[in-house]
Amino acid sequence: MFVVRDQPALVLAPMDGVTDATMRALLARTMPFSHCVTEFLRVSSHPLALRSILRSMPELAHGSRTTCGTHVQLQLLGGDPELLARTAEDAAAGGALGIDLNFGCPAPTVNRHDGGATLLRFPERIERIVRAVRSAVPAGIPVSAKLRLGWDDPSAIFRNAEMAERGGASWITIHGRTKFQGYTPPAYWGPIGVVRRSLGIPVVANGEIWSVDDLRRCEEETGCRHFMLGRGALARLSLAAECATHLGLPATGEQQRWASGASSWLEAMALVASESRTAAEGDRRTLSRMKQWLNYAHKRGSISWFDSVKRAQSTHDLLRAASAAAGAAPFGRLAA
Ligand SMILES: Cc1cc2nc3c(=O)[nH]c(=O)nc-3n(C[C@H](O)[C@H](O)[C@H](O)COP(=O)(O)O)c2cc1C
Repeated sequence: MFVVRDQPALVLAPMDGVTDATMRALLARTMPFSHCVTEFLRVSSHPLALRSILRSMPELAHGSRTTCGTHVQLQLLGGDPELLARTAEDAAAGGALGIDLNFGCPAPTVNRHDGGATLLRFPERIERIVRAVRSAVPAGIPVSAKLRLGWDDPSAIFRNAEMAERGGASWITIHGRTKFQGYTPPAYWGPIGVVRRSLGIPVVANGEIWSVDDLRRCEEETGCRHFMLGRGALARLSLAAECATHLGLPATGEQQRWASGASSWLEAMALVASESRTAAEGDRRTLSRMKQWLNYAHKRGSISWFDSVKRAQSTHDLLRAASAAAGAAPFGRLAA
């Protein structure tokens, strides 16, 4: 479970506003991820109550697993070791199986309030935070850290990674860009490899993996066997399975069917609609999530009909417009 040295791993990246519990359930069912990470939960002026953690991570009530059994790790963000530790302690008592600490979020509002990437300028604080959370949860619960290369200086990763390990991190994930580099390509995988060789804990490589060839190049450059996929998994339905096959990770029959191309974008959207209905979510929220997902696919050239659906006013309209534009499966089957 989670990330261990001798086994490869393929982790679904946390993506705030995208990979909520409904999407985690859907993506874990259709794609062979080793585990998922929640969107960040911000801990600012007081420890989070278990009920607010449960709102963002309903999997907590189901053994910290998605409906198909994939483990989910809780991600916390903040700058106060004590508050983070108390939140992690309560979450672990409430059933969390793993805690990840966010040291990478570049959002100005988050950074202004002493959270995310801003901590990359203070290696000692990274150590203190990891150590406090590590000490607060039982030894069997892994505590990991997700970092960018630095705030503005990419070489900051060397000291920050060392401090995270010294604080007791079980593994670290590195997004190969500084906060200043935002999401502008490329991602720099070289420093990830340098860190991997210098630490005794596993390092998960992350950033700009859009194809299995990218994964292979990232593997060559870093020597990593652990990877995290974010936007690429959304932009290309078969990507996670192709990467899992390359890494020798198992896939279920349903996951193989998605990988074989038999599944379509229309089916993916119908699944979002039905999973959201089961979770009793509002149509507007579901519609926005569908458009966001399709937009990733559109930007990477996986679909040609985004313009026909981007103004849809309901999930029903979107599914109808998509099936007309794609000229594929009959709408009745998709909407069932
Ligand atoms: C919309 C969006 C939201 C994100 N939210 C989070 C988050 O909540 N926590 C986090 O650690 N990283 C977050 N990230 C960063 C991703 O986890 C990942 O590091 C980044 O997208 C690079 O990986 P990729 O190129 O595979 O997408 C987010 C990224 C995107 C695009």
